[in-house]
Amino acid sequence: MRSGSATSRDWPPPDTLATTDRRTGPFGVRTGGNHPPQATIMNEDNKTDFGFREVPASEKARLVRSVFDSVAGKYDIMNDLMSLGIHRLWKRIAIQLSHVRSGENVLDLAGGTGDMSALFRQRVGARGWVVLSDINAEMLRRGRDRMIDEGVVTGISYAQIDAEALPFPDNYFDCVCIAFGLRNVTRKDQALTSMLRVLKPGGRAIILEFSQPEGELFRKAYDLYSFKILPLIGKVVANDAESYRYLAESIRKHPKQEQLRTMMQRAGFSRCEYFNLTQGVVAVHRGYKL
Ligand SMILES: C[S@@+](CC[C@H](N)C(=O)[O-])C[C@H]1O[C@@H](n2cnc3c(N)ncnc32)[C@H](O)[C@@H]1O
Repeated sequence: MRSGSATSRDWPPPDTLATTDRRTGPFGVRTGGNHPPQATIMNEDNKTDFGFREVPASEKARLVRSVFDSVAGKYDIMNDLMSLGIHRLWKRIAIQLSHVRSGENVLDLAGGTGDMSALFRQRVGARGWVVLSDINAEMLRRGRDRMIDEGVVTGISYAQIDAEALPFPDNYFDCVCIAFGLRNVTRKDQALTSMLRVLKPGGRAIILEFSQPEGELFRKAYDLYSFKILPLIGKVVANDAESYRYLAESIRKHPKQEQLRTMMQRAGFSRCEYFNLTQGVVAVHRGYKL
């Protein structure tokens, strides 16, 4: 792959992605060749969190995949139910904070069923481009089908990729976004470094993620909701209490607002800041590549 910056005219590189223009061909995702280089793979003794459980780092991606394989079919309806539709507002605010403009190229990491990509696509217009990506083929397939159903067939590509090892040249995107995805990633530092690398100078990363709510009382109520009610909704609607218990646990293990900001700074981002939404239930972190 060529390195250096790219314009929308030479986008996307033909060897990297299949576009919707070729959607009669194979699904439009790469399943091979995108694995992290050997040097980045941790050995079996390295442990990481999977919810409240400690698991070998090499196991986490498989476990996360099984969660999203299981929830993919009910993902959108569960999002609306669990958040009473507020996730739509959070996503719109994150888009606003991205300052994405017409003609820009955007990478939506862990994009799942494509909520963020659909909004970005509206903003970048006919001259821009959006890559909807996810590590999970089932989630991505649903995202792709949804875009086509909504008539979005140009200016968007699909890529099955791991946020930790991005198969794009340096300085490629104006904005890289990861919404409700970073907490599932095993090596978050590596994902942040990868995001920085593929951003153009002046480009920004947007991280929308659950965070630590403000206020003791509010936190108690939120805990009750997360650990008692959420798995119950999961059981009734999706017949899957376990995956929604993982959701609640993974939120508690995710770095809090200040911690994540420090991680972004350590990865090399500049002007890092965050915006608490719904009293810190979620936060939008933004950092620039300068
Ligand atoms: C909660 S969903 C978020 C989907 C979408 N961004 C949204 O906001 O609705 C999390 C997504 O992260 C994906 N994911 C998990 N680990 C990943 C990784 N290492 N790289 C890329 N995607 C990953 C999952 O497959 C899943 O689709």
